[in-house]
Amino acid sequence: MMTSIPLLTRLPAWQALQTHYAKIRGLHLRRLFAEDPNRGERLTAEAVGIYLDYSKHLITGETLELLLQLAEEAGLRTRIDAMFRGEKINVTENRAALHTALRAPVERAVFVDGQNVIPQVHAVLNRMEEFAKRVRNGQWRGHTGKSIRTVINIGIGGSDLGPVMAYEALRHYSRRDLTCRFVSNIDGTDFAETVRDLDAGETLFVISSKTFKTQETMTNAHTARDWVLKALKDPEAVASHFVAVSTNAEEVAGFGIDTANMFEFWDWVGGRYSMDSAIGLSTMIAIGPEHFRSMLGGFHQMDEHFRTAPFDRNLPVLMGLLGLWYNNFFGAQTVAVLPYEQYLKRFPAYLQQLTMESNGKRITMDGTEVAWQTAPVYWGEPGTNGQHSFYQLIHQGTKLIPCDFIGFIQPLNPIGRHHDMLMANMFAQAEAMAFGKTSEEVLADNTPSWLAPHKVFEGNRPSSTILLERLTPEALGKLVALYEHSVFTQGVLWGIDSFDQWGVELGKALAARIIPELESENESVLDHDSSTSILIRRYRMLKKLPD
Ligand code: F6P
Repeated sequence: MMTSIPLLTRLPAWQALQTHYAKIRGLHLRRLFAEDPNRGERLTAEAVGIYLDYSKHLITGETLELLLQLAEEAGLRTRIDAMFRGEKINVTENRAALHTALRAPVERAVFVDGQNVIPQVHAVLNRMEEFAKRVRNGQWRGHTGKSIRTVINIGIGGSDLGPVMAYEALRHYSRRDLTCRFVSNIDGTDFAETVRDLDAGETLFVISSKTFKTQETMTNAHTARDWVLKALKDPEAVASHFVAVSTNAEEVAGFGIDTANMFEFWDWVGGRYSMDSAIGLSTMIAIGPEHFRSMLGGFHQMDEHFRTAPFDRNLPVLMGLLGLWYNNFFGAQTVAVLPYEQYLKRFPAYLQQLTMESNGKRITMDGTEVAWQTAPVYWGEPGTNGQHSFYQLIHQGTKLIPCDFIGFIQPLNPIGRHHDMLMANMFAQAEAMAFGKTSEEVLADNTPSWLAPHKVFEGNRPSSTILLERLTPEALGKLVALYEHSVFTQGVLWGIDSFDQWGVELGKALAARIIPELESENESVLDHDSSTSILIRRYRMLKKLPD
């Protein structure tokens, strides 16, 4: 299906932004702040308990106006409405992108192909709740009558990263006598190390795969089944130790899991947008149904904000536009996400799939090649660790790296001065990046002139500061939805389909071809390029040699 979208670079606001960029590119944040004492208050926005300070960005009032105009001209409003209405905005897969329906209240109605999907969403949530409670209270027993002490989610990509991130992020709220582990990699070490100290009789596997065909997940699932059967020595054990989360009942049954133990979701939920669906089963078991529903409530609050707030106060829209400003005008190649919260240690990894699998595209929705940059590389580490590692480059390197600082006012583990020190570091880093240290200031410290240039901080490094009160399940929901919608905002402006992922297919197909070549006993003829063929031959030859 072809969709007619406005050509980004022909939009009047884009052209005005180009002229504007040339005019303001030399501006320094020192000057912008000096000229407007209220800047730190003015360039902020607050909604649903999230405070966004975007004053330390290389923008003026005019920049903001033009970016907002660009969003209007690109038809962002219409596209937001289309997404929430359940239109098939994922054009290359002819699907709706309705993750927002996963967290909509039961009284809402959202239609896909004439059917209201909200009742089925809540029916699955209720089944998950019933199951999670049984696992948590020990009613769900393993085959030998023991209660479950470890839940292992086997999945990859969106069927892993969301659950891992949420488990780590909400560990404070989780039962400590019922732990979750995650197996994703095809590397046998992942499985071996994960189960090494476990009793199969106390272990429940949640096989999470939208398609139930993904090579890594299905291989790990079969290995898990062998491991359980070897330990418990009864094929009947599968029923008590395996449940499935999928859209594909046929494949689930084919694997040997009773579909009564399957938790369903739907093709209109993209993998990287699925942590609120049944893919969140391990999260719900860990934190309990009430906390899980409160997380969904947080997502929904941000959804409503995104859907209804005017763009100039709309957090995901503002963040999306600021990201585009650096990506498309300053030529920034990456964005650093810096959570000053240890529980968010997997948040950057989660965001990598969300942002880069969504917007790492070069073809627009109408099938032509883009004439502008699309998604930057996302990366990051929790503070303060990054400060003793890569911040050097952010402060004094030659690359412009816009940063997202994420912090919470209340600590979950108040110990001595730790939290004040943590937050002081976060505020200090944003301040240092923006304002730096001039040569005069360095020399005033009695620094010898030969050393002074090394100690100068140019500043003018832009950042957003995102402040929330406390890391609760609800807050996590708001934060994730903030990024989801900011990614969508950018995808709309770049004119791409943020919900497909064709770029993962070629590698999958080539690996499927190479696997039998590595396993074959006879020297089959290799029809690859010379580099790949030599690597395969070398691998085949050396793997046969004794240790
Ligand atoms: O990496 C490609 C991808 O399709 C992701 O989009 C998805 O999250 C992941 O693989 C896992 O897919 P599935 O849930 O079908 O196993």
